Amino acid sequence: MSILFAEQDRTFTLHTKDTTYQMKVDRYGFLLHLYYGRKTGGCMDYLLNYADRGFSGNPYDAGTDRTYSMDALPQELPCQGTGDYRSPAVIIKNPDGSYGCDFRYNGYRISDGKYGLLGLPAVYASKEEAQTLEIYMEDPATGVRMTLLYGVLPEQNIITRSAVIENPGKEKIWLEKAQAACLDWLHGAFDLITFHGRHAMERNVQRAPVTHGAQVIGSRRGTSSHQYNPMLILAGRETTEDAGSCYAMSFVYSGNFKGEVEKDQFGQTRALLGLSDELFSYPVEPKGKFHVPEVILTYSSRGLAELSQNLHRCIRDHVCRGRYRDGGRPILLNSWEASYFDITGASIYELAKQSADLGIDMLVMDDGWFGKRDDDNSGLGDWYVNEEKLGESLGSLIRRINGLGVKFGIWIEPEGINEDSELYRKHPDWVLSVPGRNPVRARNQLVLDFSRRDVVDSIFEKICSILDQGNIEYVKWDMNRSLSDCYSRRTEDQGRVQHDYVLGLYDFLERLVQRYPDILLEGCSGGGGRFDAGMLYYTPQIWCSDNTDALDRLQIQYGTSFGYPISAVGSHVSAVPNHQTGRLTPFRTRGITAMAGTFGYELDPGTLLEVEKEQIREQVHRYREYAKLIHNGLYYRLTDPGKDAAGAWEFLSEDGSEILVSVVMQEIHGNMPVTYICLKGLKPGCMYEETSSGKTYASDALMETGIPLPDQSGEYCGYQMHFKIAKQQEGE
Ligand code: GLA
Repeated sequence: MSILFAEQDRTFTLHTKDTTYQMKVDRYGFLLHLYYGRKTGGCMDYLLNYADRGFSGNPYDAGTDRTYSMDALPQELPCQGTGDYRSPAVIIKNPDGSYGCDFRYNGYRISDGKYGLLGLPAVYASKEEAQTLEIYMEDPATGVRMTLLYGVLPEQNIITRSAVIENPGKEKIWLEKAQAACLDWLHGAFDLITFHGRHAMERNVQRAPVTHGAQVIGSRRGTSSHQYNPMLILAGRETTEDAGSCYAMSFVYSGNFKGEVEKDQFGQTRALLGLSDELFSYPVEPKGKFHVPEVILTYSSRGLAELSQNLHRCIRDHVCRGRYRDGGRPILLNSWEASYFDITGASIYELAKQSADLGIDMLVMDDGWFGKRDDDNSGLGDWYVNEEKLGESLGSLIRRINGLGVKFGIWIEPEGINEDSELYRKHPDWVLSVPGRNPVRARNQLVLDFSRRDVVDSIFEKICSILDQGNIEYVKWDMNRSLSDCYSRRTEDQGRVQHDYVLGLYDFLERLVQRYPDILLEGCSGGGGRFDAGMLYYTPQIWCSDNTDALDRLQIQYGTSFGYPISAVGSHVSAVPNHQTGRLTPFRTRGITAMAGTFGYELDPGTLLEVEKEQIREQVHRYREYAKLIHNGLYYRLTDPGKDAAGAWEFLSEDGSEILVSVVMQEIHGNMPVTYICLKGLKPGCMYEETSSGKTYASDALMETGIPLPDQSGEYCGYQMHFKIAKQQEGE
């Protein structure tokens, strides 16, 4: 049993393989957080401290006891209105206009399996793999109910959190804030690790001490955004990749979010993650319910590498779904950087022919094949095939490509619309825009109002009529701007529109996944602008960044690896000079970098020299050889490419028998010192054979002193070393 309720001290204890989480229903029915960390037994309510704190009020039912204050006690899900002046997870506006709620304990239920959330992505697991705890809370004054949901996946060291808020009353209430996860620590010095970025340079890592004064990240862009990823890590000040305690919170959601971390007046730390409360005021109708999107929690006492591996496993095996979940992803050639909008049926067929020649599995026809779409100023929304441009029907093009033994994939952007489109001319009211005001344009496009069912239905039908035209085995779902002008003509409650938009998006995606279970979906939002666990529930891979520069990708993929499995990272080899940076990097290096993801190409092989084509064949061959290890292996960051001369990472099979080490040198100098790369996680006391040279090495030495990189001249050299455990043991 991973969830226990102790009747005598009214504590709930959640155990995973290596962690324990504990909370307590106290004498007034509040649910207090006691502990989250390394696995332990016993009741931890001795940790709570009570003192008469000036200006920290006391609940009425505490009588004259001035030592009891919600302002100082650690809580499971703090609500505004109880006398806790720290940032709350939940704010409710009542029918009489008052703000506040005061939830008290009202029972619990433990069941096998993992709860699901209506209309929302969530971690899933079988009855054998997980348990669910529901804790029922109720506000006696209003009758509003809140069910706290905990999913425990013991083997994965994962605990998920969500909540359902229910209005049993006769009048509408509004949620002004609704976040699923709070972590309160009674003491301790933490660093906060967050992932910030911009278009084409996503998920840079920032590590900063937690201080007084809230540190806040979030998105008000309607998507999870390039600018901040919806994930937080709190780590001990001394915590490294290999040692020390650390916590991760990852939001399973793709829209506006807020993460807040603050050290309070007593030196206690609170971390919150969930829906943003900005531009949010969500009505819950009488007898209605609101499902709060889920947050994944994990803890490691052994450093950041293990913390990431916990998230990798959870997202790869318990969030991603479908036929391609466990691997077998096609190696693809995408037409975007090969020809941008300048495509015809003949040019796409030519790329497919090149793919066949090079051993590439799939050709993806990116933007430009529909409507009047010769650049990004027109055509978006017109989901009919431009047969004039293609010179044939989509069905015939696909048949010809399949005839080459090459699979076919296609690009779509269902949420976007150009004003210069038939769709806009017919339905100008389908876009998000404020009546009487000119909307903000971005990439010269507007956004369809996906909070409206009729709009979603209509676009869904149109997309299906495209997908039904032939054997389409992959779809790249793009979204190329941030939301603005979030006014919907269908509701009086504009504070619900942005969340309803995300629900509309999920509804569309779910219908797509159900109707086309064999299609591989790849998410994209100008690269990695919506790279989150919510999207990964529908699209098991996401185009990591519009930046394909091998050197910049080292940093982008390094940051991404903290929270997301390598199987989710869309990564391609592109041409040089690189289209985003103008940098020249060796072909081999580009291949090595792209192999830290779902591998593919983003160039026109027709422009390459025969020696380069030979390199593609060789890379394709290598990737196939290592694909399982890359997909399922334990991932270790060996260096920090933002600080170190080399970017280096390792895949280790879970049984420790096979290793793939990749290194890219970022610097080159005269009379260069030798670079040593230390490996991680190997089986101690073993010998490993490097398979290309046949040389054997002792595992402990590989981890302790590392392996010297052979001397190579030239900029940005790449190295790949593959090891297998040798039969002969050390010392034999
Ligand atoms: C976005 C994507 C690119 C490409 C273009 C097409 O920028 O990230 O990969 O698909 O749109 O317009």
